[in-house]
Amino acid sequence: WSGSEKADSTNQTSVQNNKLSGTIIAPQNGSKKRFNSAEVKNMRKHILKFYNPDRDLTLRKSGLRVGQQLRYEMKWGNKTSLNVTKDFLKLIPEESPLKDRHFYTCAVVGNSGILLNSSCGQEIDSMDFVIRCNLPQIEGYEKDVGSKANLTTMNPSVIGQHFGQWDNKTTDDYDRLLRRLDQVGDQILYIPTLTSSVGDQWVSAIIQILLQHKLTMKTPFPPARINTVVKSIWRKAGFKILALRPSTGAHMYTLAATICDQIHMYGFYPFSEDTRGRALRYHYYDTNTEMIGNKTHSMPEEFRTLRQLHMRGALVLHTEPCR
Ligand code: CTP
Repeated sequence: WSGSEKADSTNQTSVQNNKLSGTIIAPQNGSKKRFNSAEVKNMRKHILKFYNPDRDLTLRKSGLRVGQQLRYEMKWGNKTSLNVTKDFLKLIPEESPLKDRHFYTCAVVGNSGILLNSSCGQEIDSMDFVIRCNLPQIEGYEKDVGSKANLTTMNPSVIGQHFGQWDNKTTDDYDRLLRRLDQVGDQILYIPTLTSSVGDQWVSAIIQILLQHKLTMKTPFPPARINTVVKSIWRKAGFKILALRPSTGAHMYTLAATICDQIHMYGFYPFSEDTRGRALRYHYYDTNTEMIGNKTHSMPEEFRTLRQLHMRGALVLHTEPCR
């Protein structure tokens, strides 16, 4: 990384009570902002020194055996390792589904309520490669968020959070989950199973669903240490991530920077009000207004980093409607 600029050195904003206050340097209207190819290349070069999706996107089948214990990265939860079962092994790919892939335009879509009424759906769907976080609801929100998804992440705990506590396979929540997984089609479902044992009970459920229903998506499982690596990449680039674990969105920008020439970020806005003082939902697809992500992540700091990268032309951060 060639820049010496430190996070927060170019603005006087502060985050209080989950509101962005102070002098706001609003990103210019995304579609009019230009990319700076030198900045894009700098960031890619920096990240590739520590993280290469050809090698690091997923565990690989050939390096594992049934019965092996894989240590979790964080000591949260009551278990220290995940057992490699025969079924789990069936889903682990032989190689990265992104090996040797490169894209001109990419959209990384976060889940902030800022997307509601944005009319960004068409623009997002026009990108060559679209990344979405945590198996978000799309149906009914296509006008604002689009529907294309080439890589969708799914923390195992998402099942408990958004698809109910089903304990048999006949509930509406189970059907809804199946329909949602079906929408992934033959694209990529990225499942972080080695962060910690929290959500562990859902890992075997996911494995069973994918196998029983013969779903055809590719399923990379990132190795443990991915959080440490991403955090260190941002720190070495001069940016802070205060929390132990970078958000899924921060992970996905890091990945996109290695495979995309032009990265457009939508739905990244972890604040309870927009710049016009209107109340925002935490997620565009539910009514919760509490900024729950800030309990485990430092999303406002991540947002400031994205905004600085936007100012440099390394990415385009869209926080205004697309019309
Ligand atoms: N995000 C944001 N502002 C919000 C909500 C989300 O900037 N109000 C970004 C974050 O980078 C987040 C990503 O969008 O990681 C996906 O959102 P979500 O699924 O809500 O993430 P969380 O479950 O809250 O957090 P994570 O998966 O990162 O643990």
